[in-house]
Amino acid sequence: MISVEKGYVDAPVDESLDLKKEIEKLKKERGAVILAHYYQRSEIQEIADHIGDSLALAQLAAKIEAEVIVLCGVNFMAETAKILCPDKVVLCPDLSAGCSLADSCPAEEFAEFVKAHPGYKVISYVNTTAATKMYTDVVVTSTNARQIVESFDKDEKLIFGPDRNLGNYINSVTGRNMLLWDGACHVHEKFSLEKILALKKEYPEAQVLAHPECKKPLLMVADKVGSTQALLNYAINSDCTQFIVATESGILHEMKRNCPGKQFIAAPPEDSTCACNECEYMKQNTLAKVYNTLKYMAPQVEVDAQVAEKAIVPIKRMLDISRSLGLIK
Ligand code: 13P
Ligand code: SF4
Repeated sequence: MISVEKGYVDAPVDESLDLKKEIEKLKKERGAVILAHYYQRSEIQEIADHIGDSLALAQLAAKIEAEVIVLCGVNFMAETAKILCPDKVVLCPDLSAGCSLADSCPAEEFAEFVKAHPGYKVISYVNTTAATKMYTDVVVTSTNARQIVESFDKDEKLIFGPDRNLGNYINSVTGRNMLLWDGACHVHEKFSLEKILALKKEYPEAQVLAHPECKKPLLMVADKVGSTQALLNYAINSDCTQFIVATESGILHEMKRNCPGKQFIAAPPEDSTCACNECEYMKQNTLAKVYNTLKYMAPQVEVDAQVAEKAIVPIKRMLDISRSLGLIK
């Protein structure tokens, strides 16, 4: 009997195994597809069939044909995949991998906030639990947030949650005055502006790339503000050859892979001597856990049917709007 009490299969893995080869074998046997977020460990990105940002992962989950999906990300991403594919087996190598941003918006408190503001349309970032999505009119990701907000009439009253930095940024670029939930991502909030400015002095030609979950003073010195995918695209297409990257450092793997001649410097956090800023939740998944998840087909993601029935509505609305805007196919 295997235990998944800790959120992952707690079974020993033979250290002599070539895990990448074994995962490939198991993947074929199970008819599984591995989806991984750009913030996953490099070795997980390397064994994934598809890597992408939050929007791409939701879109892929919605259209994938395989019967088994292994979602290498954090638990709100696995939940979103399961909601979109209720009849498929969705595996998450470590279901205990949470998200400080999703945690900053408990469903019951958000429901109270929404109830206290009748007449408002509710926009929620995908980084929320399925239960919080139940109180949402349309879900957004950082890739489509601006366009989806702009798809509402200018005088429509809007609530945006849970990320206050992304919300403030979208307000500033759209001229809207959305009411913001006061949540944040602990990873994106802890970049050190001082250390980034010092790096700018050391590398005067380098451009600063920043995710809109970062605080405003950092966004103000950035050459490009955008979602993980937008920052990657910018780095690929830019003539510049040096970049200071202010988002979770997992994206550097894909940036370096796509741009072998360019230099990417991870922006450092405030509170440590470490040179890069990692999301400890994203790094909970390991090759050994991916191997065990496929070997034992556990842990499987489950979402309460009543919650899923409500949460799927704003998720599908996001995908439909994104498709009509040409943001996804
Ligand atoms: P994107 O994948 O939309 O860039 O979001 C970043 C993030 O923090 C995911 O957890
Ligand atoms: Fe959540 Fe931030 Fe980690 Fe993304 S980087 S999963 S928003 S804690």
